[in-house]
Amino acid sequence: MDIQSIKIRFGIIGNSPFLNRAIDVATQVAPTDLTVLVTGESGTGKEVFPKIIHQLSARKHGHYIAVNCGAIPEGTIDSELFGHEKGSFTGASDSRKGYFEVASGGTIFLDEVAELPISTQVRLLRVLETGEFFKVGSSKVQKTDVRVVAATNVNIQKAIEEGKFREDLYYRLNSVPIYIPPLRDRKEDIHLIFRKFAADFAEKYRMPPLRLSPEAVKVLEDYYWPGNIRQLKNITEQISIIEPNKEITAETLKKYLPNNNRTELPVLYKKKEDESLSERELLYKVLFDMQKDLTELKKIVFSNIGQGTGSTSSQVPVREDDFMPNTLVPVDNDNEESNPIIISNPNEFQHQPITESEIIEESLSLQDKEKEMIRKALDRHRGKRKAAAQELGISERTLYRKIKEYNIK
Ligand SMILES: Nc1ncnc2c1ncn2[C@@H]1O[C@H](COP(=O)(O)OP(=O)(O)O)[C@@H](O)[C@H]1O
Ligand SMILES: [Mg+2]
Repeated sequence: MDIQSIKIRFGIIGNSPFLNRAIDVATQVAPTDLTVLVTGESGTGKEVFPKIIHQLSARKHGHYIAVNCGAIPEGTIDSELFGHEKGSFTGASDSRKGYFEVASGGTIFLDEVAELPISTQVRLLRVLETGEFFKVGSSKVQKTDVRVVAATNVNIQKAIEEGKFREDLYYRLNSVPIYIPPLRDRKEDIHLIFRKFAADFAEKYRMPPLRLSPEAVKVLEDYYWPGNIRQLKNITEQISIIEPNKEITAETLKKYLPNNNRTELPVLYKKKEDESLSERELLYKVLFDMQKDLTELKKIVFSNIGQGTGSTSSQVPVREDDFMPNTLVPVDNDNEESNPIIISNPNEFQHQPITESEIIEESLSLQDKEKEMIRKALDRHRGKRKAAAQELGISERTLYRKIKEYNIK
């Protein structure tokens, strides 16, 4: 299948050499069983690549399971991936098959793979190397035949240095790397993609499509696009809905592009989707970020005390759950977001947006504000946790926990 037909089949817009190269690599590697690691900033369009690989492989009639590793509570992730035996933990009233068993003969897409806890990384490495795994609570080795494609928007090298990701697993996953460049590095595609989205939204909302003046096109192409194609899509939708005049000038367009001057607000810059926040909410967000930093510091101090060392140079990998009781968090079945997508029919492919790094613990004076921010974010996204978590810059797992903790309806 040539690159052009793949683009049509999978709805990929763009012609930049980078994108074409990525599609080419996916096509070449598809028929093999090699593990592929897709990297790129959030919103660059990583999620279509495992689908291409699955569909162009001999496994296409098998299951395709997409797991968002950042969205599954840490306490259940081993059981979700590898299954468990009856009675292996409190509440395990039945045995259960994991995705690695179910997807045998097919493909598993591990999205946000850098979010996997270290203990799960060990199990994953084993199944990648030998095809063998154990159910949680079982000592019986099982075999599976699964092709793994993983994705991350995190700099894994850095995660390795920080002790959060196993180096051996990284090399194993990265047999074939596919890098998706940010939108700002494929400027020639920006207007093209905009027009596609403008046409889609025109149809959806039954209105004429947006058109950009030449100056507006320049603004669009020169923008930094921290949220990449996802952000371009959101902004195109906003303008489509809000602007009565469909001829968009540079001035109008600029109103919708959040200022991405890095030097002004370094704390805020990390989070990419501030565009819909009011000034007051931005302040809360700064507080939120400060709280996060404080918690990080606390954890480092605690872990140093715990190790009986006052040395600040010891690189202790600390995780959120070192400070949480080791209980099993139930999977919220109403929350489609934490469930994987299991698909055999390519027409039903959907996307699961990204999650970002986690926020931890509470500091008393900030609790109310945190609660308010969460409530607002949820309101704004009509209860959609995935979107709210993204806006707040926390993982769905953390949001899920906060909602429980604060009893937010
Ligand atoms: N080349 C493209 N053409 C059209 N739409 C795209 C393209 N790349 C990404 N998208 C859309 O952008 C959004 C974000 O893509 P996604 O794959 O979820 O990004 P991520 O890299 O964060 O996983 C999705 O709605 C996706 O359909
Ligand atoms: Mg994604």
